Amino acid sequence: QGLLPIPQPSTAPVVGNLTSIDLEDPSRSFSQLAARYGPIYKLAVPGLDMIIVSNWKLVNEACDDSRFQKSLKGDLEELRTAVHDGLFTSKGEEEENWGVAHRVLVSAFGPLAIRGMFDEMHEIVSQLVLKWARQGPSARIDVGEDFTRLTLDTVALTSMGFRFNSYYQSEMHPFITAMYEVLNEVAKKGMRFLPSVFYTSESKKYHKNIQLLRRTAREVIEERKANPDGFKGRKDLLTAMTEGVDPRTGRKMTEESVIDNLITFLVAGHETTAATLQFTMYNLLKHPDKYHKLQEEIDSVVGTGPISLAHVTKLKYLDACIRETLRLSAPIWAFGREPLQDEVLGEKYLIKKDQQIVCLLAKSHRDPEVWGPDADEFVPERMLDGGFDRIQEQYPHSWSPFGTGMRSCIGRAFAWQEMLLAYAALLQSFSFVMDNPSYTLQTQTSLTIRPKGFYIRAIARGGLT
Ligand code: HEM
Repeated sequence: QGLLPIPQPSTAPVVGNLTSIDLEDPSRSFSQLAARYGPIYKLAVPGLDMIIVSNWKLVNEACDDSRFQKSLKGDLEELRTAVHDGLFTSKGEEEENWGVAHRVLVSAFGPLAIRGMFDEMHEIVSQLVLKWARQGPSARIDVGEDFTRLTLDTVALTSMGFRFNSYYQSEMHPFITAMYEVLNEVAKKGMRFLPSVFYTSESKKYHKNIQLLRRTAREVIEERKANPDGFKGRKDLLTAMTEGVDPRTGRKMTEESVIDNLITFLVAGHETTAATLQFTMYNLLKHPDKYHKLQEEIDSVVGTGPISLAHVTKLKYLDACIRETLRLSAPIWAFGREPLQDEVLGEKYLIKKDQQIVCLLAKSHRDPEVWGPDADEFVPERMLDGGFDRIQEQYPHSWSPFGTGMRSCIGRAFAWQEMLLAYAALLQSFSFVMDNPSYTLQTQTSLTIRPKGFYIRAIARGGLT
């Protein structure tokens, strides 16, 4: 009664609304459709119906864990072929492995443990500083590639003591190539409408790559088992997973679950962080006044000597720049929810149980009702002096780049420390400029969204180490 139909662009036979989506840049298409059809609309693509919500009010409602839960339909469901019920792709409480892994890992991702990873994070960012210093001021830097090396090497070293040594090779490690191919195939699969028999060679490669990922993870575990003295006293995520006991069930994680989660950390933990670092760089270079302010903060807090954890926690303006970047360009640009039973959303729209709701952060994070008329602008100052907390209180879930509730990101503190440290080290050592000063942001999308064709130059700052 009083219910309204959910608007939907007109559909074509077989492909449904697929033609309304630019497969190279779906997040932009979704935002454009929101501008045309409003804060709630429906799309049907082969095998999947989605309801896209894009203002903070509807996103906030869909985040209510008592009525809705994480939805895995689409890419995440497909990713289960590779990492099964690992934390990111699990169905949650209904799969026992999620609860065991979550409880075993929650303190391993807690503040104390993350502080213990500072030195290894520092080591990898120092490799990046060295690389850019050696390349000199005229080198054109593919900032996406070098930030990806940073975040991959960091998560592999800190989580399992494994060195990809990406800054010391021109070719990426076979694990990394396989991981990208798997992620690309996952993204493509969702957009195909011919039966799978038309894609047998892709499918063969996909499964071969998955085997390579799992074999590499298994080797890391075997190596540790074979050489316990070499890793004595090491308290990383792998130790937590192999030794930890779930206080609720008394169970340990199975070896398969450890493998699922090791791969999950690499998948979930690198591209997201690398993308945020790139978008932050873009925002700073496009706003010289903010860049200048941040440089002053880094020079006064960190100075020219070695960077410590205490420095990093004092960098409030840097913190605000990253927060504002995650608002404008959340790398996971949408997350999926579904009702536990038939629900009415926004008091007007019927959503059937199991129907997927896509919370479109790319748009809801720019809701003028929350952020005002300059919602599209990069203004880190709005996050300062309690501004962020006030907004969170008044408009819950208006900033949710790390997801929501029980299924929100377990690696948030990890990523935060890594990103603060990276910018402290980079701005201590270099002045940055755009390689092409007239570059304006273009993006590419797979599971995450990140800048495309973005190059910079790094000029060593005189007198600074
Ligand atoms: C979950 C974002 C860094 C591990 C999530 C989710 C989001 C997110 C939005 C929820 C997805 C959903 O609801 O479907 C981010 C962003 C990051 C980041 C923006 C960096 C800026 C990391 C890092 C790690 C990590 C560094 C690990 C080292 C995970 C895991 C989950 C998750 C394991 C699943 C948690 C669960 O459901 O139990 N992340 N993430 N993330 N993230 Fe992150």
